[in-house]
Amino acid sequence: MSDNRIEIAPSILSADFSIIRNEISEIEECGAKYLHIDVMDGVFVPQITFGPKFIKDIRPHSDLFFDAHLMITAPENHLEAFIDAGCDCITIHQESCIHLNRALNFIKDRGVKCGISIVPSTPVSAIIPVLDIVDLVLVMTVNPGYGGQKLIQSCMDKVVELNELRSSEDYGYLISVDGGVNLDTVQDVVAAGADIAVVGSAYFNAIDKAAFLERMHSLARESFH
Ligand code: DX5
Ligand code: ZN
Repeated sequence: MSDNRIEIAPSILSADFSIIRNEISEIEECGAKYLHIDVMDGVFVPQITFGPKFIKDIRPHSDLFFDAHLMITAPENHLEAFIDAGCDCITIHQESCIHLNRALNFIKDRGVKCGISIVPSTPVSAIIPVLDIVDLVLVMTVNPGYGGQKLIQSCMDKVVELNELRSSEDYGYLISVDGGVNLDTVQDVVAAGADIAVVGSAYFNAIDKAAFLERMHSLARESFH
């Protein structure tokens, strides 16, 4: 982790897809390192966004860390395509994949980082069997499917729990928080132990995006000390 104590990962779900290359370049110019890429299939979640071709097309135009969040049913059927598209980390949901251990190891064996995500109604206990193999745990703090929702406070207990488990069991995963992160909630997210904060609408609604990221980092630093 950088001295910022938290990485802010802008989520392109809230971007204007008609000017996506500009939107992504701006994220890079603002100093962010991660690009959170929400893939939705209209089945696991209500909306449909895009598939691996979109990611493959934008890949040559950005050096950002491509953090793909697959909100799709049976993600194991599509992993090869997302790996081939150039994702740096592929996160799948506990709720949509039966053979989690196999799917996560498949991603890992291809040299790509693997993540596991849980929706608000899923407890941490559901992913304990795979915590020793994942590089990232993505805690959803809203019900997945839309940007612009309010953070569900009770989900923060899971961030604390994952942070404690990481220390006690010596696990190596990063903790990412996704949903409702903004200037009002980022300090709680950092205090709970997150390493990455996914920020969709709050980033894209900001008039001055660089200043917004700077403010998020400064609040994060205050919270950490
Ligand atoms: C929601 C997505 C999020 C979304 C977050 O299902 O997984 O990544 O973009 O958006 P905000 O930050 O607006 O809650
Ligand atoms: Zn997401």
